[in-house]
Amino acid sequence: MMSVCAVVLAAGLGKRMRSELPKVLHTVCWRPLATMVREVLREVGVEHVIAVVPPDGKAVREAFGAGTTFVVQQERLGTADAVRCALPSLGDAATVLVLCGDTPLLTAETIRAMIAEHLRPGSSGRRPGLTLLTAVVDDPAGYGRIVRDPSSGELQQIVEEAQCTPEQAAINEINSGIYCFERSVLERCLPEVRPRTPPGEYYVTDLAALVIAGGGLVQTVAADPAEVVGINSRSQLAAAEKLLRRREIERLMSSGVTVIDPEATYVAPGVRVGRDTVILPDSFLLPGTAVGRRCTIGPGAFLDAARLGDEVRTSYSTIEDSEVGDRCTVGPYAHLRPGTVLRQEVKIGNFAEVKNSTIGSGTKVSHHCYVGDADLGERVNVGAGAVFVNYDGVRKQRTVVGDGGFIGCNANLVAPLVVGERAYVACGSSVVNDVPAEALAIAREYQRNIPGWVSRRHAGTGGKDREPGKGQEDKRSGTN
Ligand code: UD1
Ligand code: CA
Repeated sequence: MMSVCAVVLAAGLGKRMRSELPKVLHTVCWRPLATMVREVLREVGVEHVIAVVPPDGKAVREAFGAGTTFVVQQERLGTADAVRCALPSLGDAATVLVLCGDTPLLTAETIRAMIAEHLRPGSSGRRPGLTLLTAVVDDPAGYGRIVRDPSSGELQQIVEEAQCTPEQAAINEINSGIYCFERSVLERCLPEVRPRTPPGEYYVTDLAALVIAGGGLVQTVAADPAEVVGINSRSQLAAAEKLLRRREIERLMSSGVTVIDPEATYVAPGVRVGRDTVILPDSFLLPGTAVGRRCTIGPGAFLDAARLGDEVRTSYSTIEDSEVGDRCTVGPYAHLRPGTVLRQEVKIGNFAEVKNSTIGSGTKVSHHCYVGDADLGERVNVGAGAVFVNYDGVRKQRTVVGDGGFIGCNANLVAPLVVGERAYVACGSSVVNDVPAEALAIAREYQRNIPGWVSRRHAGTGGKDREPGKGQEDKRSGTN
């Protein structure tokens, strides 16, 4: 689309958001609005994209990203002024697509259809000077209304809500804020836009009537109301989130994924899930996540850039920037932190935390463990309460456990450490020296039993102070 360029208006304050953050940096399904608009334009194939940004808009520029031309609107003088700021940067474009940075649900399909409609000569053989995207909505509040001639049905003007008569306010065809202009028409009409008093702003919407007054043709294209939701407030942000979430869930379901409760499942755009996987409620699949086939995800899975193979099961667990191989189980209540790689058929159980570690096939880390900065071989068994002591207060160091290693309960493996193949570490040991293959490492006090200790301890009481309800104030009596 060489002769079409896009201008994205993103210099507004977003006052109605009541936020410290520029509006276009608010996110829908984890992506900033600016990024979403930029991405859809890339999908459409518009190469020349100009974003109108505020003077202090570093973060806004970053959200639009590379391949965007930025122009600064020095003063927020309204949407027509914002478009005017972009005029010197249009290059050789003959058609100018104008979009708002706060309309993130638009699809590439709709934009393409609108451009095609704009470029097609009408029945009169004349090309329109302006094509605008409208929608018929249940609640038009906050949007500009499309006012048509009652007899011909032709568009006459766009009236902003603040200027609407009661009859106009009742119109439920709204302006989406997306326009296709012939460049020559835009250049001719923009200087004719007069500021509104109050608030002293130049409205791009006034161009519709000006194009008609100048003898140009204005046509409308109708869009799905769900695509043109503009975000001015937090509640519209939530509405957009819900719509986009639903769109993503539908995409997964139509590709063969079971979603038990679409209302309680949160999937970012671009997340891939294989056929016959089942997603249970309260599960979050964040950007960068990919899930294989026949998995059971949730309830309560939080997958952030998690790459899961086939037939993985995970519930009530968090998996961040980690890889999980085929047939692994994670959780309930496990936490895989960044840099974790589970090969195949690994079991990570309740209250286990794994970080920056590789865990070999068939290995079990079943309960109450911390495995950090470690490389575990195949079929290793890590007992309850074992801790990989990776941090000495200054450095993080690694621990290696060979194939078939057996780490007893409540062992501390103090890094750097190598536990050889099939070696055992006795429970309760704090191991600081390497353990050769097939050896048993035991590093703890041996038990000794003291015969008759109890009767001597309780001499003269006949043991009555150990009866329930008695002697419990005595701190030395231990737990019971
Ligand atoms: C605008 C339209 C309204 C339409 C609605 C669709 C006007 C006057 N009204 O209203 O008809 O129904 O969008 O969502 O255009 N911006 C700038 N510089 C400015 C002012 C705004 O860049 O000086 C940008 C904003 O960042 C925003 C976009 O323009 O992305 C639209 O501005 P906003 O204030 O949200 O307009 P609405 O009141 O929603
Ligand atoms: Ca808006």
